[in-house]
Amino acid sequence: MDQSPLMLSPVVAGVWRMADWKWSAAERLRWIEQCLDLGITSFDHADIYGGYTVEQLFGEALALAPRTRQRLQIVSKCGIGLVHPNRPHHHVKFYDTSRAHVVASVENSLRALHTDHIDLLLIHRPDPLMDPDELAETFRGLQQSGKVLHVGVSNHTPSQFQLLNRRHPLVTNQIELSALQMRALSDGTLDQCRDLGIRPMIWSPLGGGRLFTSQDEQALRVRGVLQRLALEHGVTPTAIALAWVMRHPSRPIPITGSRRVEALQDALAALRVRLEPQDWFEVWQASMGHPVA
Ligand SMILES: NC(=O)c1ccc[n+]([C@@H]2O[C@H](COP(=O)([O-])OP(=O)(O)OC[C@H]3O[C@@H](n4cnc5c(N)ncnc54)[C@H](OP(=O)(O)O)[C@@H]3O)[C@@H](O)[C@H]2O)c1
Repeated sequence: MDQSPLMLSPVVAGVWRMADWKWSAAERLRWIEQCLDLGITSFDHADIYGGYTVEQLFGEALALAPRTRQRLQIVSKCGIGLVHPNRPHHHVKFYDTSRAHVVASVENSLRALHTDHIDLLLIHRPDPLMDPDELAETFRGLQQSGKVLHVGVSNHTPSQFQLLNRRHPLVTNQIELSALQMRALSDGTLDQCRDLGIRPMIWSPLGGGRLFTSQDEQALRVRGVLQRLALEHGVTPTAIALAWVMRHPSRPIPITGSRRVEALQDALAALRVRLEPQDWFEVWQASMGHPVA
C-alpha cells in the first residue's frame, strides 16, 4: 500500500466537459501537456463523465505518449449509475457503493485510462444504502492491490463523512463552492475540513460559468464586485473569483472546468492574490444581497 501523502497541484483541471470539446486524441494530449507545463498536474474525472466516455478519451490521449502518465495525478469517482445507452441494464438513476460496483467501476476506469492506478478515488454522492464497513473494506483492498492510492468522498455532509472516515481515512471531500453557491461556508462542511486538517476540493468554482454568463441579479451583483477587485489587483475577474474561494482557511483546491488555456492561466494567477477581509465580505454581500449580521 502506498503510504505517501497525496500531492495534488494547487489548481486541478476538471474534464467533466471533455466529450463536448470534440477534440482529436492529439488535441487532447496537447491540452494535457499544456496543463502540465503550467503546473496543473492533477486531473479530475468520474466514471460517468461524458456518458461513461471521458476516461476513455483521456486514456486514448495518454496512450499517444505513455510517459506522460508519470507526470500527472488522476482523480476519479464512482458510485452513480446513469440511465444511458452505454449502460443498457440501468433503468433508473441510482447510487451504488457496494464492493461489486466500486471494484468493477475501478477496473473499468483503469482500462479506459490506460493506467495501472488511480491516485485518488472518490465516492461521487452519498449513498443512503451504503454499508460503511463494507466500503471501508473495499477501499482497503483497492489500496492494498495498488490500484487506488488514496480515497475520499464528494458531496458528503459532515456526518456522512465521519461515518466512513471513522472506519477508513479519507483525504478529501470534493464539494461545490463559489461566489454564487456558499452553502459549504455555513453548513459545517468546511469547519469539518479544518477540524480534521483535510483540504477540500472545490467543483464549479465559477458556478459552472454562470458567474460570467448569467443575467440573474445575484450574478450581476457579484460580477460587478469581481470586476472592481480585478482592476485593483491587476488580474482578471476569473482570478478574483478563484482567489475568493481559495481565501478560505481550509485551503481549498479549486477544480477549473475550462478548456481554454488562458482560463487556466487566470486560475493560477489567483494563487498570487490574497483578498483582504473587507474585499472577501464584499463578494459575500453581493452574493447574498445583504450585509453580514
Ligand atoms: N464532484 C461533483 O459532484 C462535481 C460536480 C460538477 C463538477 N465537478 C468537477 O469540477 C470540475 C469543474 O466544474 P465546472 O466545469 O462546473 O467548473 P467552472 O470552472 O465553475 O465552470 C467551467 C465552465 O465555465 C466556463 N467559463 C469559464 N470561465 C468563463 C468566463 N470567463 N466566461 C464564460 N464562461 C466561462 C467554461 O467554458 P470554457 O471552457 O469555454 O472556458 C466551462 O464551461 C468539472 O470538470 C468536474 O471535474 C465535480
